[in-house]
Amino acid sequence: MNWDDIRDQAVSWANEAGDVIRKSFEKELTVETKSNADDLVTNMDREVEQYLIDKVSEAYPHHKILGEEGVGEEVSSLDGTVWIIDPIDGTMNFVHQQTNFAISIGVYHEGVGMVGVIYNVIYDEMFHVVKDNGAYLNNVKLPDLEEVPIEKSIIAINATWITNNKRIDPARLIPVVDRCRGTRSYGSAAIELAFVAAGRLDAYITMRLSPWDFAAGKILIEEVGGRVTNLYGEPLNILDKNSIFAGKSDLHQQILDEYLTNE
Ligand code: IPD
Ligand code: CA
Ligand code: CA
Repeated sequence: MNWDDIRDQAVSWANEAGDVIRKSFEKELTVETKSNADDLVTNMDREVEQYLIDKVSEAYPHHKILGEEGVGEEVSSLDGTVWIIDPIDGTMNFVHQQTNFAISIGVYHEGVGMVGVIYNVIYDEMFHVVKDNGAYLNNVKLPDLEEVPIEKSIIAINATWITNNKRIDPARLIPVVDRCRGTRSYGSAAIELAFVAAGRLDAYITMRLSPWDFAAGKILIEEVGGRVTNLYGEPLNILDKNSIFAGKSDLHQQILDEYLTNE
């Protein structure tokens, strides 16, 4: 398999899909809700997913495709080559703000992340990676991450996780938020992960993401020496929902030791 070719195709399809999304701003958007009133889906989420899946299945009829909106297939194992696609990550931003949303494409081969593409559409920032062949923002290679002490770190975290919620005792995360230099929340997991890979954020903590939210970002971050695990430092299950803790290696270890895995 030529992974550079696959990366080039994924980048070009993401670019084309970005054009389709930008043009859609002139048309009326149909917004529906899914699992709850805040879980949004639009006609563009479905249209873009269909577009990307058509491209992949035409070029690679034997590859499996897992997409958020269910246009793809049920994928129950990582055997062979699996494309994991989020057509619009940050749909709430797309609907309310028309910015800060991304297309995310991760390609796994026999369980190993090989190609990742995250396209921050409005900023025209294409993050892409081929495993062991470098991570890039547009045409600029992303350097290995430089460690930073927690006191100088910027951590992406949603306020939900430091208020009462059903997934974590906020008392665990409040001291992390207190001690770091600042926090950010962009409302698109793919963008937050891409920003960790680019060194714009030092870590990202969230309690529940689906495969299409993190599939590409994980490959990008690991390529530049960062770590992506669940909140307890364990490997992710690529085909399931996971808590996510991504960050620079030493910072990741320090936060695990001092705040997340201590008794
Ligand atoms: C969502 C975004 C958001 C994250 C949610 C995801 P969607 O994806 O990534 O930042 O907090 O958990 O579901 O629904 O906009 O593709
Ligand atoms: Ca998503
Ligand atoms: Ca989505």
